[in-house]
Amino acid sequence: MNILITGGAGFIGAHLCRQLLKQGNRIVCVDNFELGSRNNVEDFLKNPHFSLIEGDASQIDFLDSIMAQNETEMVFHMAANSDIQKSAISPEIDFVNTFSTTYSVLEAMRRNKIKKLFFASTSAVYGEKTGCMLSENTGDLSPISYYGGAKFASEAFISSYSYMNDFDVTIFRFPNVIGPGLTHGVIFDFIRKLKNDSTRLEILGDGTQRKPYLYVMDLVDAIQKVSLSGEKGVHIYNIGVEDATTVKEIADMVCKKMGCNGVQYLYTGGNRGWKGDVPQFQYDLTKIHKWGWYPQYTSHEAVEKTLDSVLQ
Ligand SMILES: NC(=O)c1ccc[n+]([C@@H]2O[C@H](COP(=O)([O-])OP(=O)(O)OC[C@H]3O[C@@H](n4cnc5c(N)ncnc54)[C@H](O)[C@@H]3O)[C@@H](O)[C@H]2O)c1
Repeated sequence: MNILITGGAGFIGAHLCRQLLKQGNRIVCVDNFELGSRNNVEDFLKNPHFSLIEGDASQIDFLDSIMAQNETEMVFHMAANSDIQKSAISPEIDFVNTFSTTYSVLEAMRRNKIKKLFFASTSAVYGEKTGCMLSENTGDLSPISYYGGAKFASEAFISSYSYMNDFDVTIFRFPNVIGPGLTHGVIFDFIRKLKNDSTRLEILGDGTQRKPYLYVMDLVDAIQKVSLSGEKGVHIYNIGVEDATTVKEIADMVCKKMGCNGVQYLYTGGNRGWKGDVPQFQYDLTKIHKWGWYPQYTSHEAVEKTLDSVLQ
């Protein structure tokens, strides 16, 4: 199949490109390298079935011509701003890189009569619903970050474009995703800080924030299984693991793996890392499990494996 992947040089996108190439697909990857990099796709850059195009996926005409030239049959829309703290200061980043890229993908698909889409959404669309088991039918979605708002708006536009143009769309609401090639997030942050100073570690919040961490290869496995199945219409799935890991537990694991003993933890205080952060959530995964998909690794194991790969 001829596939366009936006944000394919990013952390998750690069893993997805690699797996889809292995399945014999032709991949065109569009990335503006704002957060992704050529290094992430270096190992398959010379594959004749892979092309890397640098450019801005929020530009409709640009995507339109790429889709036309490559006879694109399906789009995996992974491009977005993944630096939520950065957009807390500049909301426009999420308007452009998270929402406008989605609008441009949809409009370019409409012009080119492309019907199949996979969209990388997020738990952030639910907002803060502490104590509630979040299912895909949970209502009153109230995102509290600009990022969550832009993803929620993207889901709404996908719904309307799909109805008007008969698109078949798989939407996954990712939890925290980690693994080799990680470029941001709490694990990355702790390692960076401890490399600078191994005697103390600043921890945002009070360390009790507790989230499910999904290993990236488990995610890619599920994306391929469901989005390439030929399912008709728009389908939203929570995707993740049953257990969760606290920020304090991650700090302990990072210190242990890096051989840092007696590190002084300096908590910034409050029950969340930053304004817009949802400190805890829990997914109902019944719908995705009906596909026979279960992750190979628990949240704790995913953290361990990620540390092994990042620190090697
Ligand atoms: N990693 C997670 O924990 C997580 C959680 C929930 C959802 N997601 C979603 O999964 C997708 C991939 O995330 P990731 O963790 O790999 O982040 P990432 O930042 O590594 O990947 C996103 C890619 O999109 C590119 N990009 C951003 N704006 C662009 C634009 N205007 N034009 C072209 N390229 C653009 C970036 O350069 C980057 O390569 C994103 O949509 C993200 O919102 C990730």
